Amino acid sequence: MTSNTAQQDAAVADKAILANSAYADGRHLAARQSIYRWQQPQYDLPGIVVEELAETSGTVLDIGCGNGKFVGRLRKDRPDMQVVGTDISAGILADVARPVMVADAQALPFADDSANAVLALHMLYHVGDIEATIKELARVLRPGGVLIVSTNSDTDKQELDQLWVRAAGDVLGIPEGPARVSLSSRFSLEKASGYLGTAFKDIQVRELPGTIEITDPAPIVAHLASYEAWADQCGVPFHETVSRAAEIAAAAIATEASFKITCLGGFLVCRL
Ligand SMILES: C[S@@+](CC[C@H](N)C(=O)[O-])C[C@H]1O[C@@H](n2cnc3c(N)ncnc32)[C@H](O)[C@@H]1O
Repeated sequence: MTSNTAQQDAAVADKAILANSAYADGRHLAARQSIYRWQQPQYDLPGIVVEELAETSGTVLDIGCGNGKFVGRLRKDRPDMQVVGTDISAGILADVARPVMVADAQALPFADDSANAVLALHMLYHVGDIEATIKELARVLRPGGVLIVSTNSDTDKQELDQLWVRAAGDVLGIPEGPARVSLSSRFSLEKASGYLGTAFKDIQVRELPGTIEITDPAPIVAHLASYEAWADQCGVPFHETVSRAAEIAAAAIATEASFKITCLGGFLVCRL
């Protein structure tokens, strides 16, 4: 029998769910990105990528570029570089300035050794075959080029995981409900170096710890609700659980003045 986690992992890498629901447009991604407005310290993530590419020129491919947050900043700060965005979802690319391409990271429409830099930011946990995709990223990268990857730790936003388990338990009338679908656990910060080490010799990890402190439950609710594409994998009525989580978060804010979420994400800068 397939375990609940195996089913969730399969759904997190399901191309139809990704392209037609989770990332059919930029709405859900924007809800998850916007919670970082309340994070301390603040990290300028596109700025970090620009900094890491200071010694690189030529072509940069942003694989799984989503709503183009990094593509836009690179084009502005590095007009000398050719920046190409790709994504499996045509919908999410609609508002990203050209050149962009609909392409699966597992079979890229680029020649061997054609890019000076490749970005795979918060996306490798969504591909079906992570090892093969890393080989594919290495294939298109020129010798001397750089791959920049990002993902989250297994401990990232654990307070939201706990909130979900409690809310789901209340909905089901049991002490603890099923765990929230985890997006990054297939390729977490803890697992990333092991995977990348199969194709890349030099891997520098840059961890970005922080704390989000919120005095309004709305961004928490928006974050939890952004997993709607995986509602069928939750093992609990999705919208009811989000509503119950909103009540619990509001009560916590009323008694403790704020709701705190610990974050741990990071970049891996990889060379062949
Ligand atoms: C969490 S978003 C990250 C977007 C962007 N890289 C960022 O960091 O803001 C993941 C993106 O990867 C895309 N994606 C998922 N699987 C993919 C695949 N196999 N090939 C290309 N893109 C994929 C999704 O459509 C989505 O836009």
